Amino acid sequence: MNPLLCRLPILAKIGLSSVLLVMVIGYVASLAHLKSHVGRKDDDPELTWTDIVGTYAGVERPSPLLVALDDPRHREKWATGLTPPEEKVLRDWLARGATVSGGGRDPVESGYDAHAPGMPEDALLPADILETRCVRCHATEATEGDGVGARIPLRRWPEVRKFAYAKTLNPISKEILTISTHTHALSLGIMAMAYVLLLTATRWPRGLIGFLGFALGFGLLLDFVGMWWARSWTPAAALVPVGGALFGLGFGLATLLLLLDLWRPSARVGS
Ligand code: HEC
Repeated sequence: MNPLLCRLPILAKIGLSSVLLVMVIGYVASLAHLKSHVGRKDDDPELTWTDIVGTYAGVERPSPLLVALDDPRHREKWATGLTPPEEKVLRDWLARGATVSGGGRDPVESGYDAHAPGMPEDALLPADILETRCVRCHATEATEGDGVGARIPLRRWPEVRKFAYAKTLNPISKEILTISTHTHALSLGIMAMAYVLLLTATRWPRGLIGFLGFALGFGLLLDFVGMWWARSWTPAAALVPVGGALFGLGFGLATLLLLLDLWRPSARVGS
């Protein structure tokens, strides 16, 4: 196609540039939404893999502390000092979290280093048991335990809370995913098409335009396929960030190249 963009009248260039900037604003807003909405799926505010899997596939994970207590290998090889009464205290403590779903001071959080009402004053506390039986390996500065302390530190509540709770994240409902798909698939699809067409009217090399068209279109496809496929096959949730990143790369680069082509004088390049 002819390099038409650089020959547009100045007002059209200003208009088209403005539209491109509006697209960038829209994209930034959708990223912010993603971070604040999907990112809060689990109780860690950062956007993580658990959030993505939780949103599109659902997550059912028992309390990691309970998993360790149930794991005979970990008990025999590592947590050897733990006595049966101590284990019972830990199990009773963690079991209290089964009925609670996040937010506020729940029985697990308050029971970590304080006695529940009616408990004898000299009863063992989970915090003390973790300190004497686990922290020797499970602390960031621990020298024992093959470095597990960096991954699973258990010294203070802010660390322990990440491993104390069972986690059940339900995927977003089919209805909401349908609504989201129908608005996004159509608008982003049209947008990607417009971008590809505009790019073909620039002076950039065909190969580069080809790559950008591929990134925009194929990225979108992976994104939507991943969102739906993950409901029946969890690993497919990986397609969502992969497709999103591919699309984001294509979108950012294409916007930049379109703006550059619009405002790069045509005389110097010749057309
Ligand atoms: C002597 C070192 C050592 C001690 C003491 C120890 N651990 Fe571990 N723990 C490890 C190592 C090493 C791993 C990782 C490899 C494995 O699971 O065998 C681990 C893994 C874990 C995990 C992760 C399990 C999973 O599969 O996700 C949890 C939770 C855990 N330990 C809790 C505890 C608790 C609670 C105690 C105290 C009752 C404790 N550990 C005592 C060394 C230790």
